[in-house]
Amino acid sequence: MYCVRVDGGHALGGQVAISGSKNAGLLALAASILADEAVILHHVPDLKDTRFMGQILETLGCEFSFQTGTARIRAREISGNPFYECVRQMRASVCLLGPLVARLKQVRMPLPGGCIIGQRPIDLHLHGLKALGCEIFIQNGFVSASADHLIGATISMGGPFGSTVTGTVNVICAATLAKGATVIRNAAREPEVVDLCRMLTKMGAKIDGIGESTLTIEGVDQLHGACHELIPDRIEFGTFLLLALAGRCELKLSKMSLPLCGALVDTLATNGAVFEEIGDFFVVHGSRSNLRPMRLETFPFPGLPTDLQAPLCTLFTQISGASSIVEHIYPNRFAHIVELQRMGAVISMDGPRAIIRGVTQLSGAKMVIPDLRAGACLYMAALLANGESLIHGVHHVDRGYENFDEKLKKIGAVLQREEVERTNGGKEI
Ligand code: EPU
Repeated sequence: MYCVRVDGGHALGGQVAISGSKNAGLLALAASILADEAVILHHVPDLKDTRFMGQILETLGCEFSFQTGTARIRAREISGNPFYECVRQMRASVCLLGPLVARLKQVRMPLPGGCIIGQRPIDLHLHGLKALGCEIFIQNGFVSASADHLIGATISMGGPFGSTVTGTVNVICAATLAKGATVIRNAAREPEVVDLCRMLTKMGAKIDGIGESTLTIEGVDQLHGACHELIPDRIEFGTFLLLALAGRCELKLSKMSLPLCGALVDTLATNGAVFEEIGDFFVVHGSRSNLRPMRLETFPFPGLPTDLQAPLCTLFTQISGASSIVEHIYPNRFAHIVELQRMGAVISMDGPRAIIRGVTQLSGAKMVIPDLRAGACLYMAALLANGESLIHGVHHVDRGYENFDEKLKKIGAVLQREEVERTNGGKEI
């Protein structure tokens, strides 16, 4: 266990290479078991979560190797069911449900619980698989799904919040090997779902409507091996973009197709942010930006992503006036607020809306990261603050941001990891 000591207030600036997408990587790793030939994935970020998914694949009987951004998975013969610890430690392991039932015709896996960001039901995943002909039982905290044959159907994946990303992916994966055509309405359109569909197409899947809210999948007898390069991580890109604006510095960010981040870039540009595309770089001119307070809401893609809500809260502490953000996807995803308040941020809550008044000179504090994206938000706040911060719970950040500390140091951040034993008698708080 490590914590990070951050000396705030140093000028930042420079270049950041954006890694491959964490969530696209997790979906692709899980879906790779649909074929018994090797699947090679490039631009895979070296993260706790991707390595953990690799370990789960190994426990299922897959060959798995991972070196310098390239993962090779071969699911020649797979057996077994994911363990409770796997699903408990990484909720994204739920996206093995569709691939496993498609490949093995039966699976028994622990039901994922909620987590710090809120309730995370899987009713829509199960509804979709049932429509494809699966029998589903829930008992003793496990879900069992089985089907002699998966048969194409018309399924709606929508709910009051929009659609479900991993639920859509589970149904897509199962439908690729079903008999006949499946039509998925209200499919999630997140870039990570699109990227997965592109990978499946390379594996021989027949998918129409990629990127739209209605997908048609014509089942095939089997999928084959393929090579695929993951899209860049739009949330990592957004996090560094917000850091440049909050810190009023210049950052050159690499490798991003802007439509993946359209809502963020457009909203900020309309509210005074200055950006420039130069060659392969996206340059954020934080010092030339003059941001006005904003009223934002998170939505499914192409809306503003929930995964950037926490870093946006840090930015809002640096904008003069009252900004607000409504969290529609996970209305309780606000565990970072109390930590920001401890640093001096002026924030009030009104249901799922955080109202943040700036400008506040944040002051360094001891903090505990409650979840991955809150981690980015608190790192940002510590870098902007006067004085020293000691941040516990950095393992959350290691789950989803590749080499975060090193990338920050390269742009001028002054921080260092310390073993928790040295600071806290061996106990992580
Ligand atoms: N929902 C239901 N029923 C379901 C499934 C979802 O009601 O059967 C609701 C959820 O409660 C939530 C909403 O649907 O209100 C959206 O949840 P979704 O299923 O889309 O989330 P997810 O697939 O579990 C993925 C990302 C999350 C990201 C969300 C929303 C992966 C591995 N995870 O989760 O990423 O926040 O979509 O975009 O792709 C992160 O990277 O930090 C992260 C949490």
